[in-house]
Amino acid sequence: MDIDLILRRATLPDGRRDHDIAVAGGRIVGIAPGIPGPAGEEIDAAGQLVTPPFVDCHFHMDATLSLGHPRLNLSGTLLEGIALWGELKPLLTEEAVIARALRYCDLAVAQGLLAVRSHVDVCDDRLLAVDALLAVKKQVAPYLDLQLVAFPQDGYLRAPGAARNLERALDRGVEVVGGIPHFERTAEEGAESLRRLCRIAAERGLRVDIHCDETDDPLSRHVETLAAETVRHGLQGRVAGSHLTSMHSMDNYYVSKLLPLMAEAQLRVVANPLINIVLQGRHDSYPKRRGLTRVPEALAAGLTVAFGQDCCMDPWYSLGAADMLDVAHMGLHVAQMTGRDAMRACFAAVTTQAAAVMGLEDYGLHVGAHADLVLLQARDPIEAIRLRATRLAVIRRGRVVARTPARAAALALPGRPERVDPAAYAPEAAGA
Ligand code: FE2
Repeated sequence: MDIDLILRRATLPDGRRDHDIAVAGGRIVGIAPGIPGPAGEEIDAAGQLVTPPFVDCHFHMDATLSLGHPRLNLSGTLLEGIALWGELKPLLTEEAVIARALRYCDLAVAQGLLAVRSHVDVCDDRLLAVDALLAVKKQVAPYLDLQLVAFPQDGYLRAPGAARNLERALDRGVEVVGGIPHFERTAEEGAESLRRLCRIAAERGLRVDIHCDETDDPLSRHVETLAAETVRHGLQGRVAGSHLTSMHSMDNYYVSKLLPLMAEAQLRVVANPLINIVLQGRHDSYPKRRGLTRVPEALAAGLTVAFGQDCCMDPWYSLGAADMLDVAHMGLHVAQMTGRDAMRACFAAVTTQAAAVMGLEDYGLHVGAHADLVLLQARDPIEAIRLRATRLAVIRRGRVVARTPARAAALALPGRPERVDPAAYAPEAAGA
């Protein structure tokens, strides 16, 4: 077999060291120490971490990079963000949405982010953003997997035309059913929206991803209905509850009943740490709640938990850089996941776990998987999060699609070394 590429002397996320990864025909064909050549190309990882690519399983690509259009979000709140998006929507053009999305995808690829699940707002009779992102999905397919969710931002039942538009979007090729039950007029209508949306998904054989209980209200309990409807329709493992921030504020006894229900439904849990920490707790004085869902407890219950980015320079969030290590870093801190295994779980939350949420096929570091890989300037996943490590090389289907020079800070202190390698100051943790 002709080998197209060998990455030599890689450290793998599970701690294996000095492994070579051989690639042929866009797939991984070998992972072992000392794979014999020749190969079309060889890259020396020199002991650095090679990982499957980053995956963002919760994003809004129709809004990204629109910061300041038509104005800035002055309060920084979720509700002003939704109102501002409502002002921007009629001004959108298909060309502008496509141009911004393509720019974002370039940024994502440079950061080793090669798969994105993006919600696309269907509360616009023109379905302009739907058509724009379907075009983008096709165009970026060689280098990035874009999965779209039909998202009724203004409420599936509350917004006129949303129910019809959601089905029109699915007819056009959007592949996941979205919803926002806490934004419907009443709790009962929220529950009804979930019943209808899960039925649509079951009938069409689609996955579901719900903006669910994105509130500090401890009595916002749509996740319970979502779990029940998932089981009723046999959708186990195919339904994601995104945000679930109300779980932060729920009564502990109730959560002790809820988590097993979620586990029974194999509900995927998607937290969005950058956004949850800035948008939740806004009605609190002090102490202020963090508003992140119960990540360690969900993991302990056996649930798949991923972290999404949600927003990047849009009506809701002025920051963001398509950097899933930033997302993992924030999630780690807000959830106080500082144990060794917990930190590794935060890395998994933006790689393997997020891939599981999206249902990506042939993702991962095993023979037969797509040769989608990222070489990081770090020795292990914990160091990658600590340093928000440079993506030295990003590989898609066995081809290098992005490179970034190694980072070393320059010093200007007399008598000191000229350059500082941040990794050189960190001891290697035993068994890391
Ligand atoms: Fe979102």
